[in-house]
Amino acid sequence: MKPKIAVVGSLNMDIVVSMARMPLVGETVQGSAVHYVPGGKGANQAAGAARLGAEVKMIGAVGSDIFGTQLVDSLRAFGVDTEAIDMLPGVETGTATILHTREDNCIVVVPGANARCSADAVRRHHALIEQADLLLVQLEVPLDTVREALGIARSAGVRTILNPAPAVPLPADILSLADILTPNETELALLSNQPVAETDQALMEQLAYWRELHEGTVVVTRGAIGSSYLEAGVLQTVKPLKVKVADTTGAGDAFNGALGYCIAAGLPFRTAVDFACRTASLSVTKFGAQGGLPTWSEVDSTYA
Ligand code: RIB
Ligand code: NA
Repeated sequence: MKPKIAVVGSLNMDIVVSMARMPLVGETVQGSAVHYVPGGKGANQAAGAARLGAEVKMIGAVGSDIFGTQLVDSLRAFGVDTEAIDMLPGVETGTATILHTREDNCIVVVPGANARCSADAVRRHHALIEQADLLLVQLEVPLDTVREALGIARSAGVRTILNPAPAVPLPADILSLADILTPNETELALLSNQPVAETDQALMEQLAYWRELHEGTVVVTRGAIGSSYLEAGVLQTVKPLKVKVADTTGAGDAFNGALGYCIAAGLPFRTAVDFACRTASLSVTKFGAQGGLPTWSEVDSTYA
């Protein structure tokens, strides 16, 4: 049976400007290209899980403009059920303007319709969360919306993954509703009110400190280092695959979509993290947040 995943989150049109190196403040550099590609953390995670074979339904909002139509069509092409994505009249679809170099990116998000993805919309579509094996949420929609979605899942006994991205301070009640948290190192530092951990030792201490405050499982995504979590108080790090990087945008989303897929499918945590790392590694070999999202068999073939 296909694992069933509900996603509550953002859809953005990514306006990606590619260049050899980032401009400094006040500087002008030459770019090599501009591309319009589907993005948004919610949509990326939904597309990633669907590509692996999950049955995915998404709650979200776009504007009644051409970007909105394109984003919904593209998610549908991934096999995502988009019935609960509202098209809001007179509102602009969210955009993310991305300065992209091969190794790095800088992103400016203008939420648009994502800011109108309301707790009310989540309540209207509660059945979609209650019938899922797992709920995936991120922080590009309002916190009330995130809280509502997690609360519905908790009451229905549906497992949840909260990807606390982008980095914003989170109220304790939201954190306590998340079964699995997937911050990157910066996000973990912000949530822990501590400086970014520069060493494994420091990260281990941060995770141990975290464990005393919150019950949920935490897995930290660390880019080229891989992903780390605590097991019996000891830091475990799963390394990524060695790949030729084209674009790191959305690597975290590929990780989350895959982690959600594996947890919903009932796989053990370590297996799930390993599979998610491999998925994220493959995703960065192609341009665009949703370009390069692998199928299950593509990930499977990396175990050889
Ligand atoms: O996580 C990557 C995503 O963040 C991009 O697709 C962009 O839309 C931003 O929201
Ligand atoms: Na990609």
